Amino acid sequence: MTQASTPRAQELYESFAPLCDPATYTPEACERIAATVAEIQRLKRERNAVILAHNYQRPEIFEVADFIGDSLELAQKATTVEADVIVFCGVHFMAETAKILNPTRTVLLPDLRAGCSLADSVAPDALADRKEELLRVHPDLQVVCYVNTTAAVKAVCDVCCTSANAVKIVEALPSNNILFVPDENLAAFVQQNTKKNIIAWNGNCYVHHQITPEEIGRVRKYLPHVKVLVHPECRPDVLALADAVLSTSGMIRYAKESPANEFLVVTECGLSDRLLLELPEKRFYKSCKLCAYMKMITLDDTLAALREMRYPIELDEDVRRGAERALRRMLELTA
Ligand code: 13P
Ligand code: SF4
Repeated sequence: MTQASTPRAQELYESFAPLCDPATYTPEACERIAATVAEIQRLKRERNAVILAHNYQRPEIFEVADFIGDSLELAQKATTVEADVIVFCGVHFMAETAKILNPTRTVLLPDLRAGCSLADSVAPDALADRKEELLRVHPDLQVVCYVNTTAAVKAVCDVCCTSANAVKIVEALPSNNILFVPDENLAAFVQQNTKKNIIAWNGNCYVHHQITPEEIGRVRKYLPHVKVLVHPECRPDVLALADAVLSTSGMIRYAKESPANEFLVVTECGLSDRLLLELPEKRFYKSCKLCAYMKMITLDDTLAALREMRYPIELDEDVRRGAERALRRMLELTA
C-alpha cells in the first residue's frame, strides 16, 4: 500500500480513499494537508476561532471545520457561536448571514471572490420597485427571499427562506400573494406545493440550472433502482425525475435513513464527496456540477484568513438590522 511519511498524513490518505481521486489526494498532497490542518487547529485555539463550513466545501476543509451544514443549519449555528472569530468556509452571502445574526463576532471569508450567481441575480433597488408595483395589485403581498441574496436585498424582504424550509415559510405567512426571489426553479417547486399565488423572480443558480433530464435519464436506464436525490434549485423537468427533492443536509439524512444502497446525487459535487466520506458502505453516483465560487475557498486561504485576520465582513448597520429582521422571522417560523 502507498505510504505517507507521517501517521496523520497516512490517516488522511486512507480516509480520502472513498473519494476515488488518487490524482488529487496523493501521499505528498496528504503530507501538505496534514501540516496545514495542524497549523489551522493551532491558530484556531490562539484566536479563539471556529470554522463553519458548507456541505459543498472541499474534503480537506471538512477536516478543520467545527460545524458543517446546509444554509439553514449554518444560519442557526451562527446565532449560538460564542467564539471571538468565525471563519466561514462557504460563499459570501453565507458569511454575511453569520455576521447579520451575530454582529459582535469577527466573521472572516477566506476569499472575497466566493460569490453566488443567484445572489447576483437580484439588486435591492430593482426589488423595491417590483415590490411597490405588485403591492398596488396585491395589497397583501409578502416578499420571500431565498437566503442566497445579499444583506441589502434581505432588508427589502419580509422573510427569508432556505431550500430546507421554503414551502413551510410560504405556508406560514398570512398572505395569499408571494413575490419569491430570486430563484425561479425554487419558486416553481414551492408553487407545486402550495395553493398560494407565487410570483417568481427570474434568477437561477448557474450550477443547478445546467443539469438536464437527459443526464438523469442516462443513469436511470442502467440503474433503474437508483434513488434520485435532487436539489430544488434544479429545473422543473429535472425535479420531475426525483425520488426526493431536498436541501443538501436533507440529502445526507435521507441517504443515512433510507434502506436503499444506491443514490444518484443531483447537486454540487461537494455534497457527493461528503456522502462518499461519511457513508462508505453505500454507493453514490454523481450527476453533479462544480460550483466555482464554493471551490474558491482553499485550505491555504483558510490558514491565511486566520493568520492575517482576512477578510472581515463589514455591514452598514441599517442594512444589517433590516436583513436580521427577515432572517429572525425565518428562524421563528422554522422553530
Ligand atoms: P443548501 O441550503 O441546500 O445547502 O443550498 C445552498 C446552496 O447554495 C445550493 O446551491
Ligand atoms: Fe450560488 Fe449555485 Fe454556487 Fe449555491 S451552487 S453557491 S446557489 S452559484
